[in-house]
Amino acid sequence: MRPSLRLRYHQGTTAHTASIYPFSVQGSFGHRGTYVGLDLLAGGGEFCWDPFEAYAAGLVTNPNAWVLGEPGNGKSALVKTLLWRQAAVYGTGPGGRWVAIADPKGEYTSLAEDLGLTTIRLSPGGTATLNPLAPGPAADHEPPDKQTLRRAHMCAALVSCVLERALTQPEDALLFAAVEHLTTIRAEPTLADVAHLVTNPDHILDDRLGPRADLTAETRTVAYAVDKLLTRSLRGMFDGPSTVTLRWDGAGVVLDLSAVPLDSDALPLVMVATAGWFQQLMACPGPQRIQVLDEAWALLGNLHTAAYLQSCFKLGRTYGVANLCITHRASDLAAQADDGTATSKIAAGLLADSATKIILRQAPDQIAAATSHFGLTEPEAAIVTQLARGRALWKLGGRSAVVQHVLAPAEVVLCDTDSRMHGTARARPEQRSSRSGHPRPPRRDPARRSRTAAA
Ligand SMILES: Nc1ncnc2c1ncn2[C@@H]1O[C@H](COP(=O)(O)OP(=O)(O)OP(=O)(O)O)[C@@H](O)[C@H]1O
Ligand SMILES: [Mg+2]
Repeated sequence: MRPSLRLRYHQGTTAHTASIYPFSVQGSFGHRGTYVGLDLLAGGGEFCWDPFEAYAAGLVTNPNAWVLGEPGNGKSALVKTLLWRQAAVYGTGPGGRWVAIADPKGEYTSLAEDLGLTTIRLSPGGTATLNPLAPGPAADHEPPDKQTLRRAHMCAALVSCVLERALTQPEDALLFAAVEHLTTIRAEPTLADVAHLVTNPDHILDDRLGPRADLTAETRTVAYAVDKLLTRSLRGMFDGPSTVTLRWDGAGVVLDLSAVPLDSDALPLVMVATAGWFQQLMACPGPQRIQVLDEAWALLGNLHTAAYLQSCFKLGRTYGVANLCITHRASDLAAQADDGTATSKIAAGLLADSATKIILRQAPDQIAAATSHFGLTEPEAAIVTQLARGRALWKLGGRSAVVQHVLAPAEVVLCDTDSRMHGTARARPEQRSSRSGHPRPPRRDPARRSRTAAA
């Protein structure tokens, strides 16, 4: 009888078995980028990520990412720490990274203080006004026809959103003609100028669009919609010339939109105007930029605002911008419009234009949507319903990882959105700096580029 080798049955975690049989776990994604946490499918090794590094390494075909998860699972915390750590690795401002954050809950102010970002608090009827039609720093670098198109596109998204339908051809033509005309006669046209011109189209618009009488119905509809924008939804925030001076060569900007109620009709419009205003910053040459749209579901509930977001995504690669969008459910991405074909096209476009998907816990009723949108395998779908807080399924190009996001003690205060829940007002950032012994990330240190930040 031939002797056979008999070994005792051994069971271990992937973290341990990796040391005796490496093929039981998947390979590392590499060390480039900022530290995120533990790669649970790679034996608990480090997991690092950076949208630009992943693009440069050929792991993904674009630098955009979606972060999805049920409320309270750590979506914003993940993005905050990524921004915080990337400041340490890549630096901020020229030669480093530039960050623009749309912050509907007003929770990025601590991060802004620590990173030296300018915070602009917008409120209906408030004193800070931003003009999404201003040429901004892109003026010297972008041809006038591109500027006109960008502005007209944003106005069309705003008016479509108010009307809750696509613009008819005459309405679209009227709006475009008004924006184009204003671009030629004003250095800094405003939405108020557009409203005025649409309500009282002068002979120049007649020349372009034909006799005024033929346009009366369109003029009236568009004028009412723009009037609603100016007197209600965007009042005091995006309706006049900019009253805020921003250092374009600074570290970045946070638009605090917390004065606009989360469940209001105004939020999608405010988010469109915000994305429109960001675009004038993104369109000029400069450092790699990151645009964060927190609570991006506000843009996904409507076909026209979702289409606008998609157009921003498309420009991302041209401008060297990585878009990070945060939303709750996979079904948000289907946009809640009636037209099935258009809806699925937008959802497919948004996903195709974002190669990285970070999926935190999803409710069981979202699994079908998550599976169809993200192409989850059966085990991945099962994992997604069971993820603990801070743990996510990462889909990077064709690869997957389950990552536990690790918060450093110094970052807990930065990310804490539960202080009201546990009834304690946690300490503010001063304690994270010299007094607590935790250093702030350096403002700018290009020499440290491409190295991994230790959390
Ligand atoms: N990896 C983590 N480890 C420990 N605590 C975490 C982690 N991630 C998040 N938290 C904590 O969980 C709480 C909720 O996190 P966060 O505000 O990021 O959730 P969210 O998913 O953005 O919620 P919402 O959808 O309501 O905005 C915060 O107080 C944060 O400090
Ligand atoms: Mg959040």
